[in-house]
This record gives sequence, structure tokens and C-alpha cells, in this order.
Amino acid sequence: MSRSVLIDRIGQLLFADPEREELADAALVIEGERVAWIGPAADAPAADRRVDAGGRAVLPGFVDSHTHLVFAGDRAAEFAARMAGEPYRAGGIRTTVAATRAASDAQLAERTGRLAAELLAQGTTTFEIKSGYGLTVEDERRCLRVARAFTPETTFLGAHVVPEGVDADAYVALVAGPMLEACAPYAKWADVFCEPGLPGAFDGDQARAVLAAGVRAGLGARVHAGQFAEGPGVRLACELGAASADHCTHLSDADVAALADSGVVATLLPGAEFATRSPYPDARRLLDAGVTVALATDCNPGSSYTSSMPFCIALAVREMRMTPLEAVRAATRGGAAALRRDDVGTLRPGARADLVVLEAPSYVHLAYRPGVPLVAQVWRAGSRVA
Ligand code: NIG
Ligand code: FE
Repeated sequence: MSRSVLIDRIGQLLFADPEREELADAALVIEGERVAWIGPAADAPAADRRVDAGGRAVLPGFVDSHTHLVFAGDRAAEFAARMAGEPYRAGGIRTTVAATRAASDAQLAERTGRLAAELLAQGTTTFEIKSGYGLTVEDERRCLRVARAFTPETTFLGAHVVPEGVDADAYVALVAGPMLEACAPYAKWADVFCEPGLPGAFDGDQARAVLAAGVRAGLGARVHAGQFAEGPGVRLACELGAASADHCTHLSDADVAALADSGVVATLLPGAEFATRSPYPDARRLLDAGVTVALATDCNPGSSYTSSMPFCIALAVREMRMTPLEAVRAATRGGAAALRRDDVGTLRPGARADLVVLEAPSYVHLAYRPGVPLVAQVWRAGSRVA
């Protein structure tokens, strides 16, 4: 029989009630893996166990809908060169591909597990993982097999970059054909790095070929679009009914309108702007147009080697014209929307009991106190995990 837990004396509870996103002096009851009750602390029912939140803020666990956690090696030297003035190049991905191919399955799983533990310790209770550092049929499949051990939200990104010395159209045919066939059993989503101006990345037609094949194979679509320049990726995402267009740093007015009309989530990845020293996306423009915005880390060794959703929230508030509430909403409910999940990213009764207790009286502190480890407790599916 599952035991119940009462989390009592919550100073501020976020996203438990769609009508009132911030509740003060609240309590929450967990039954098994789910939230069973929320309400005023004064009305809290008895439970098998009581946890005193002591006036701290409680919010849903973060939903990181965009990561590249399966890889080997690092590219600290490339980062340092960039900070000394070098531009970002998609070709850097090939450095990680070589290290990843050379690693054993056990080494990849160990490294991915360490990163997954980093995410969890910083409050992320649901995360997506992409392949994309294998780029052969067998290496992409094994990266997805490794990813699958950590999350059901796995994404086939064979079209991350064209491997060295390979013809681009021949590679697209491989990705959309035999590679997809080998990887589809381990993937829920298909993604493409659509950035026509960046050597090694994919243009609109190539991206369409890969994503359409992915959709035919039963995968949902998501797209890396508009990271360095306006391009066809966002409209393609809307045309194909993708769950999410990711990066969205450079958007035309038509792109913004298409996102709003289609309901495709715009997933913003400020860690990438930070680590490529690029201008940040304008979240305000998207929110004002009625677009659903998600925030994610893009955790990868090249363009954004952070596993911290609190860091991304702080950047979004400081640099992207988001209020603290909008940023935390994007990091929880927005990420859930980007993964088409309604069981996470919220604390309404019936949701999975994934929650973060902050060492702070308010979620505002996530942006107000950047870089400070404020995540005091993490609960996933009703159990305390950090
Ligand atoms: O999301 N944009 C493409 N892929 C990654 C970068 C990967 C890398 O540089 O290793 C990204 O930013
Ligand atoms: Fe990415």
C-alpha cells in the first residue's frame, strides 16, 4: 500500500492551480507517485508522514526538454578560444563525435549518468536526451540505447552535422533511411540541426526530408531552428506539426506568427547564447504574440555545457525580457508542453509528484540570487531523490 506524505507550511506553492499560479501558506499531499491534494496549510489533512517546509517555496521539478547528454570528451579549449574571439563552428561537433565513437558503451553510460545526476541535483526531474554524436547507424543507435536507460524522452538527431568527408545529400539519405530505421525503436522524437548558413548543418529541404521520414516512422518532430540566423526551420516545424522549435534566437515576424498560430512551442536555450557570446532571443516578443515558451539547457559539450535550469532562468530574466514567473513557468510547464506531457511541470492533483523545495521564500530568488545553490530538496514520483 502506498504511503501518503504531507508537505506542510509551504510559504509559496507554484503551479498547483491553473487559476492561481502562486499560492501562499499552502500544503500538499502526495499519495504514492502522485499529488493527491493541495490547499491552505490551515486545512491540511493528516498523512502517514509530515515534512515541514518551514515557509520555503515549492515548485514543480524542472522539465529540461532539450539536452545532448550522451557524449565523451569536452571542448574546454574550443570554449576558451571562442571567449578570445573565435566564432562558433558546427564543425566542433565532429571533435565530440570522434571522442564518442571511441568510448565504450559503459563509458558513455557512466558519463551520461553523472550528467543526469547533475540535472537532478539542480531540480530537473524530467529531461529529454538527443543522440547526434555518433553519426553512423551503429553509433547513433547505441547513443540512443544509452539515453533510453535514463529517460523515455529520447530524440534521434542523426542530422546533427554532416560527418567529415561525406556528401551531404548522401548523408541525408542515410539518416532518413537505414539510420532512422535502426534508431526509431529507441526514440520518441526526431530532430534536425536546420541552419542553412552554417557549414555542416542542414538546409530546409534536407531537414524536411529527415523530419518527414521520422514522422512516417511514428516519431514526433522537433527542430533546431534559427540559432544563428533566420531560416526555414521554424516554418518547417509549424508545417510538420512539430512539438517544438528550439533556439528561436533569430525569427522573422512571419515565424513568430506561425508559432502563435500552430501552437508549436518555442524552446529558448540561453546557455547557448552565453557560451557562444551571442545575442539572446527575445522571449517578450514571443510571449506578447501568444507563443508558448519553454526554457531548456541544451546541455552539450560545445555550445552550452550547463546542466542548470536555475542558471537558464536567471539568464532569461536578465537578458530575455522575461519576468521571474514567466521564466519559471517556461522551465516547468513550458518544458512539459514542448514534450507534450501533461503529467509533469505542474503540481495540480493527479500530476506526478515531482517537486523542488527551494532554500528561499520565493521562486523569484532563482533569478535574484544567480549562481547560488537554492535547490534544497528534490522529489520525483513521490520520493525524495536529492
Ligand atoms: O544545440 N545546434 C546544434 N547542436 C548543439 C551544439 C552542439 C555542439 O556544438 O556540440 C546546440 O547548440
Ligand atoms: Fe541542441
